[in-house]
Amino acid sequence: MATAHPSKDTANTSKTAKETVKEPFLSDVRMLRKQARAHLSEGVMTPAYGADVDKTIEILQSVLATEIVCVLRYTMHAVSATGISSEAVKKEFAEHAREEQEHMMKVAERINQLGGTPNFNPEGLASRSASEYVEGDNLVDMIRENLVAERIAVEHYRELIKYFGDKDPTTRVMLEGILGNEEEHANDMHDLLIAHEGTPNLPKH
Ligand SMILES: [Fe+2]
Ligand SMILES: [Fe+2]
Repeated sequence: MATAHPSKDTANTSKTAKETVKEPFLSDVRMLRKQARAHLSEGVMTPAYGADVDKTIEILQSVLATEIVCVLRYTMHAVSATGISSEAVKKEFAEHAREEQEHMMKVAERINQLGGTPNFNPEGLASRSASEYVEGDNLVDMIRENLVAERIAVEHYRELIKYFGDKDPTTRVMLEGILGNEEEHANDMHDLLIAHEGTPNLPKH
């Protein structure tokens, strides 16, 4: 009797096989959805995130402070620079201030994505920042101080890009974009310094 209805047996086997294939797929989807719901509060953080998220946020808070200080310093210089041919330099400072603000926003958004709160608190800002806020006594001083700050930012970001590597490619790619811009800034300040350093310090009338 066992071989009396081979076609029925085949049909049964085939039905069972179909269910076996179908069931794990559904379970996987259900499991994924369940996990996604369970970890909703973690935002973009998934188990595949390779870095220590608290450390990433701490590092990015320092990058954020560096960018805020750069916005403040360039803005102050753009407004208060004086002297021969200062107009072109003021424009350059103002453009850099705008770009530093874009960097600031990108870093703040990334901190937020990672579940942190971007630290915009003015208290302790200077000590969280890698670069300094220096007013500069004259136009050449201002250019020099900006060049120093840009070189610090470039060094800092190069190190951080190496650190993030494949652990957090999104943060690394963001920093690579910012680094390219800081290198341009350093180059601009270097050119301005060469153009203005030989200028004699004429007395004001
Ligand atoms: Fe910047
Ligand atoms: Fe810069």
